[in-house]
Amino acid sequence: MMTYQAFPEGFLWGGATAANQCEGAYDADGRGLANVDVVPIGKDRFPIITGQKKMFDFEEGYFYPAKESIDFYGHYKEDIALFAEMGFKTYRMSIAWTRIFPKGDEAEPNEAGLQFYENVFKECRKYGIEPLVTITHFDCPMYLIEHYGGWRNRKLIDFYEHLCRALFTRFKGLVHYWLTFNEINMILHAPFMGAGLYFEEGENAEEVKYQAAHHELVASALATKIAHEVDPDNKVGCMLAAGQYYPNTCNPDDYWEALQEDRENYFFIDVQARGEYPNYAKKKFAKLGLQLEMTAEDLVLLKEHTVDFISFSYYSSRVASADSSLKETTAGNIFASLKNPYLKSSEWGWQIDPLGLRITLNTLWDRYQKPLFIVENGLGAVDTPDENGYVADDYRIDYLREHIKTMNQAINEDGVELWGYTTWGCIDLVSAGTGEMKKRYGFIYVDRDNEGNGSLKRSKKKSFAWYKKVIASNGTDLD
Ligand code: BG6
Repeated sequence: MMTYQAFPEGFLWGGATAANQCEGAYDADGRGLANVDVVPIGKDRFPIITGQKKMFDFEEGYFYPAKESIDFYGHYKEDIALFAEMGFKTYRMSIAWTRIFPKGDEAEPNEAGLQFYENVFKECRKYGIEPLVTITHFDCPMYLIEHYGGWRNRKLIDFYEHLCRALFTRFKGLVHYWLTFNEINMILHAPFMGAGLYFEEGENAEEVKYQAAHHELVASALATKIAHEVDPDNKVGCMLAAGQYYPNTCNPDDYWEALQEDRENYFFIDVQARGEYPNYAKKKFAKLGLQLEMTAEDLVLLKEHTVDFISFSYYSSRVASADSSLKETTAGNIFASLKNPYLKSSEWGWQIDPLGLRITLNTLWDRYQKPLFIVENGLGAVDTPDENGYVADDYRIDYLREHIKTMNQAINEDGVELWGYTTWGCIDLVSAGTGEMKKRYGFIYVDRDNEGNGSLKRSKKKSFAWYKKVIASNGTDLD
């Protein structure tokens, strides 16, 4: 057996999910409708999540996988017990905004929604699992989209503030780690899913997106401020869909292109971690003629309430080229990127690059000097269970092992400060990009298919025992 250097003491090993992809129970106990409920599986999903096609309610002839999902709402005790059996130190999950404020603009929160999350957090604590809570993971109340236009409207800052106050006060002492917006840069790529944005014809989509981004950035700073006021032990992080861009060749034009692409993503974190709009962004807005409304108070909030740590998802690196005739992009991913001929791909065409994780960790650490947290990483694959629901998912173990190795190097050889690692979809759940159940990431298999058939029975895959050993050995035993 090969042994590796241990991870730092107290390293937060765990797994991650999001409310809309696992809870189901979309109308239980007063929950309101959210954007993430009305995105169906199938060919219309992409135009809907990108704000090109309008779907504001359930329509005939579509299947909406988030409605029932894997019913974490009804199974949370069983699921958390399984996470505990694997030895999770942390569990990343998200709050469904519409359980707390069904429409989004009510004066008082919905007690049943608060109670549900209190039960979940207490269940975690029973096993010594530290909850890591994403305040919004792609969800926005439909009422706020229909009546206010989603995050394009400045009023969303107030509604979000209201949500945060309700959460921070009610869960004081139960939750210490908060993330303000999942993959905040997704607003540029999937604006309906990321920020409840639908574009009317003739609208300047770029301007709307950056205005909405500004509102989210201010809301994030405000949440950080309130979290610290309510409980000085609270730690608040931002969250980036990360993945370094490589230049396609050593042609300086390609390098320049890669730098521009990286900046498009780092822009958000530059604001959240350093507290101000970077010069390159101000120049870009001016060049594009974007008229963005920002108040002097906004800028003070951004400056004074930067995040405590930087979290990110990492699935792959990306490739950029200045040569617009190159067209061979990777399949399936919401972020279009050129194909990297040195890398293998998953069944969904996502390229696999463990070293890219070390590169991304080092780049983020060098750029911000703030603690990092990998809150998503994993392999979406087709699993074939035997009659007992057992899946021999060696391909998933291989993927995770190779990524954990480079994480280890980033910490022990490069000196990166990394607080924890939560693999994506620790229990099988609905894919955000495609709406499929078939694209599975979990250590725990859930009997449910793309059409919503199945008993919802949970069973352990081979990777379950493997990850348990990884955690128990604090990363020294990866066999
Ligand atoms: C991230 C999201 O983009 O990637 C998750 O934060 C998502 O919500 C994950 O599920 C994997 O993507 P997909 O499309 O395979 O579900």
